[in-house]
Amino acid sequence: MINIHQLTMPIFLAPMAGGFNTPELVAAVANAGGVGGFGFAYSSPEAIDHALGTAAALTEGPVNANFFVFPEVSAPQPERLEAALQALNALSVDKHWDESALTQPYAPDLSRQLEPVWQQRPAILTFHFGIPPMVFIEKAHALGISVGITATCVAEAQAIKTAGADFIVAQGWEAGGHRGRFQETSVDEELTLLLLVKALVEHVSLPIVAAGGLMTGGDIAAVLSAGATAAQLGTAFLCCSEANTSASHRALLLSKEPREAVFTSAFSGRPARGIQNRFIDAMRDKELLEFPLQNTLTGALRQWAVQQENAEYQSVWAGTRYRGIRPLAAAGLMQALTDELNAAQD
Ligand SMILES: Cc1cc2nc3c(=O)[nH]c(=O)nc-3n(C[C@H](O)[C@H](O)[C@H](O)COP(=O)(O)O)c2cc1C
Repeated sequence: MINIHQLTMPIFLAPMAGGFNTPELVAAVANAGGVGGFGFAYSSPEAIDHALGTAAALTEGPVNANFFVFPEVSAPQPERLEAALQALNALSVDKHWDESALTQPYAPDLSRQLEPVWQQRPAILTFHFGIPPMVFIEKAHALGISVGITATCVAEAQAIKTAGADFIVAQGWEAGGHRGRFQETSVDEELTLLLLVKALVEHVSLPIVAAGGLMTGGDIAAVLSAGATAAQLGTAFLCCSEANTSASHRALLLSKEPREAVFTSAFSGRPARGIQNRFIDAMRDKELLEFPLQNTLTGALRQWAVQQENAEYQSVWAGTRYRGIRPLAAAGLMQALTDELNAAQD
């Protein structure tokens, strides 16, 4: 089993659902001594199989396959659906959503998604939004696959340790994309990454992979000296040439406009951090379907916006420090991070 204390470079490419992480990006990070990662949350078993196989042909380095632990979800209540549709109908764009997409199964079947993982055995398997059924953790261990789970607070990290995972992905408040809290209904402690890492070092004896707002080797050095074993970067890789980030998403990430990266549930039904745009503003305080039904409902709108190169109606996920993005090839970014980390540690 991989020992994450012994990586050549203590850097994980954050798994990013939505197809951002191409096999080429994953392989480039792994070939530079880090850990490549795929966000397979919404992917079909066939797509997962293909992506893992393609990456394996490009690298012998470690790869992480990441999944969401979806809640039990059933058909939306008619009144709630009506209100959610009304909120979308009030937008000043043509109707690009389709409630007929809301059919069973309402969330992907994790058991089926994991079949190609058991076949192809990437080095690492991680989960977001909670602890998966124990049988998956046991099966991963039986196959020599290391398991990590996202925590945003000490209580979640303690539950991860009890479940027998091998490491914790500590997700700070600064992080781009979905906030991986187990329960949306509990109070969010909103811990920034350094506070979270320090609290986990004190209270939970598992290796920590720190994620959220890390853009430079100096940032990585800071979380390592706080006690993390490795750092996980998402936003920093979104403008790499190998990333499958839409042109308009890239343009907004690199623009000089003073826009904040804010939390919104409007795209998916759960809080995720992305650059503020017209959709987020228009949907504030509006009725939404629960996660992931809202994600299904807004899927066609988001796709239309990508095709139109209209970033105002896309989920432009980004962490708070997105202005530090460097649009380089992944090997160049890994080299810059390595040089900065070495300089900070001298
Ligand atoms: C575009 C995007 C998609 C993401 N998708 C996932 C995902 O599928 N699974 C996951 O565990 N984390 C996901 N995250 C969160 C990352 O794992 C990580 O917490 C975050 O990128 C760290 O903050 P940073 O973006 O400031 O580096 C995503 C983040 C971004 C930016």
